Formats: sequence, C-alpha cells, structure tokens
Amino acid sequence: MADTLTITDNRTGKTYEIEIKDGTIRADALRKIKTSDDDFGLMTYDPAFMNTASCRSAITLIDGDKGILRYRGYAIEDLAEQSSYIEVAYLLLHGELPNEAQLRKWTHEITHHTFVHEFLRKSMEGFRFDAHPMGKLVSMLGALSTFYPEAKKVRDDKTRREQIVRIIAKMPTLSAWAYRHAVGRPYVYPDNELSYCGNFLNMIFRMAEPRFEPHPVLERALDILFILHADHEQNCSANAARAVGSAETDPYCSLAAASAALYGPLHGGANEAVLHMLKQIGNVANVPEFITGVKNGSGRLMGFGHRVYKNYDPRAKVIKKLAHEVFEVTGRNPLLEIALELENIALNDDYFVKRKLYPNVDFYSGMIYQAMGFPVDMFPVLFAIPRASGWLAQWQEMLQDPEQKIARPRQIYTGAELRPYVPMSERATKPAT
Ligand code: CMC
Repeated sequence: MADTLTITDNRTGKTYEIEIKDGTIRADALRKIKTSDDDFGLMTYDPAFMNTASCRSAITLIDGDKGILRYRGYAIEDLAEQSSYIEVAYLLLHGELPNEAQLRKWTHEITHHTFVHEFLRKSMEGFRFDAHPMGKLVSMLGALSTFYPEAKKVRDDKTRREQIVRIIAKMPTLSAWAYRHAVGRPYVYPDNELSYCGNFLNMIFRMAEPRFEPHPVLERALDILFILHADHEQNCSANAARAVGSAETDPYCSLAAASAALYGPLHGGANEAVLHMLKQIGNVANVPEFITGVKNGSGRLMGFGHRVYKNYDPRAKVIKKLAHEVFEVTGRNPLLEIALELENIALNDDYFVKRKLYPNVDFYSGMIYQAMGFPVDMFPVLFAIPRASGWLAQWQEMLQDPEQKIARPRQIYTGAELRPYVPMSERATKPAT
C-alpha cells in the first residue's frame, strides 16, 4: 500500500500523486495542481487553522478523544504528582528531565534572576490604580525588552538561554507587582530562600511579617497548577509566540504578544466566567433549572467542553482532587457544592453526553485561586506565569526548525477589481459615519 494520495483535477483531467507523511499532506504539494502555466496553483483554505498543522513539534501531545496530555512523553498525571514546576519548565525547554546537578544549577539560575530593574518598578506607577493586572503584565514584558537589547540575537544559543532564564525568573515578580500596584500595597522584593511558588506567594501576600512562610499545602497546590498550565501545544497564545517570534523579534516582545492572546476571554478567561456562573446560580437547589436553561440555549455551562478534548480534560481530574486538599486549609469554597452538583447532573444528562461535553481545566481552578485569596482579575496572570515556559519552548523550537520561516499565511482576495481613482469632487455625498 503506497503512502500517497491520488488527486484528479476535474478541471483539466490531470492526475497527481502526493506523498502522505504522518497522516498529513504538505500544502505546497498542491501548488503543482494548475489549470495553466501562469496559474498560481491550488491552495488550502483553513480559517482558524482547524485542520492545518503549522509545525512539527516534539514538546506536547494531546489526544483529545482519549483525554491524554503529555509533556515530552511524560503523562501530565505523573508530572503533577511527582515533579515540580521548575523541573517541568526544564523538561519542556530541554526535552529531558534534569538530573540532580542540572536541577540544582537550573533552580539557582532561575532563583537569581528574579529581581527586575528599578526603572521597571517605576514604570508600573504610570498605570491607573484600577488597571487590569494582565494589561500591566503584557506591557511589562514588552518593556523588559528595552532593558536587554542583546536579546535580539535570537539565533545565538547562549544569549537565547539567558533570556529564557530571565523571563521564567521574572514572571512571578512582574505578576505579583501588578497585583500589589492594584491593591495599593508596597511591592515585596523576591526572597531567594523560597521556592518558585513560595516566593510568588511571598511577593503577593507578605505584609509586616519579617519573613513570609508559605503554607506548604498551598505552595504545593500552586506548583501543581503551574505544572498543569505549563504548555498546551499549538493554542492561540503559543501560535502568537511562534508567529511573532518568526520575525526574529526578541523573546520579551514575542511573549508580550503571547500574553496578549491569553488575555482574551476565549482563551485565558474562562475560569473567571465559571465563578460568575456559580455565583449567579447561587444555590444547589437552582442547579436543575440552570441546566434546563443551558439545554434550551439560554447560555453555556462554563468550564465544560473543549475544542480538542472530547473526554474528561486530564487536567480537570487532577484539579478536582487538588481542590479538596486546598479547601482543607482555606475552608471549603461555598461554590464547590454548586459545582459538584452541576458536574453530577451534566455528566448524566443526554445533552452533554451526546455532545461529549466534560469539565475542562477551568471548571475547578478558579475556585482554588479564589480560596487562596487571589482576586478574579489575577486568574489569567496565574495562567501566564507557568505558560511562559511553554511559550519559550515553542518559540525556541520554531527558531531551531530549519523548515520554519517568517509566518505569512495566504489569503483568498475578495475585494474590488482594479478601478480608476475617484477624485473627491466626484465621490457621492454620504452622511459622516
Ligand atoms: N455548554 C453547553 N453547550 C455546549 C457547551 C457548553 N459549555 N460547549 C459546547 N456546547 C454545545 C454547543 O452548543 C454545540 O451544540 P449543537 O451541536 O447543538 O450546536 C456543541 O456543544 C458543540 O459546540 P461547539 O461550540 O461547536 O464546540 P467548540 O469546540 O467550538 O467549542 C468551547 C469549545 C470550549 C469554546 C466550548 O465548549 C465552550 O464554549 N465552553 C465553555 C467555555 C469554556 O469553558 N472554555 C474553556 C475551554 S478550556 C481552556 C483551555 O484549555 O485553554
């Protein structure tokens, strides 16, 4: 059996044989299918990349039908149980888990790049008191580029690695300061004695105590949430990091673009929507009526359904268990009862079963963040901090891939044909819009 596709062009009667590799045909193989010598050749039309692979990648595997997520071949469940976010960041970027010496060096490097330039702290003051922390994070990432002009040397391995370390190290600092600015509290400087997540909690919550001691359960819970959010293959923000980075833009600006993509409510904002929904339902007794409303088209069950997962999102399973552990410490989030009842009813209801709608990563994560004391507008920031390692891994892989070039999709032009320029005096008068 040949691994080829035979296509007959009924416009010309010609037949073409095209190679199939990895279940894929190369779009440029279609270019030889022409009606004449000056024909551009056949293209594919795929808005939103619904059926187009934009790269070859060895980083993350998702099998949506089976509910599988793996980083570099390791099951997400194993990583969440046995690894740390810092190890996972190393894994995503280097392809292998670090040995002891590698992990010690990596942790040391990340820990010692957590401080940011004082001018950057001052530029935070330019924002209004009510500025959204995600808007501040996007701006601060772009601003970091001005402090490290050498970052432009994206093809230089040593320079690239330095920026990768800086970005992973500084994400918690920028994020925590975006929060402290919003609540009018003094900025807390990094504590290099603490873990990655312990230090982040320190910079968020420390007040007058001489030394902040993170609660070990909450510190570990945040670490697990960071592992679960570290990468998700070619999603909207990873695609933004790759596309912008393909112009050889420095990684700070490429990640500012990725964060801007994540800021969108269709991408990084669903956990916030889940909380609003649970509050709106208000009471377990109101759940059946709410479900009936969803089935009748009055809205969606937020935190349910996924473009890729047509099974239980494996991250949601880990997070559900984690929620119980966190609530042991923080006290039960009263919204949990409503969430459990919603899940219970939906998983047994024909409407949801037929459409393969299961809880996704956002269904329980917002409740955990809220119980830990984070305000809702920090949720996308909490997503961005760990996703930085995924964006950087995707960005680096794109730069090292000899097949990649500056991203430049084609279009099907639907505008006017060439027409003569119309002088102002001859243009029809219409009311100003
Ligand atoms: N509640 C009720 N019905 C739903 C839902 C839902 N949450 N999600 C999908 N459906 C229905 C939809 O109405 C459609 O029904 P029908 O065939 O009768 O028209 C069918 O299921 C297929 O929906 P779709 O919109 O074609 O599915 P999609 O793959 O385009 O959408 C989604 C995926 C995540 C946008 C959608 O499931 C949704 O809006 N979910 C709620 C928002 C949410 O939780 N988003 C977080 C996603 S996870 C974040 C991440 O991994 O980055």
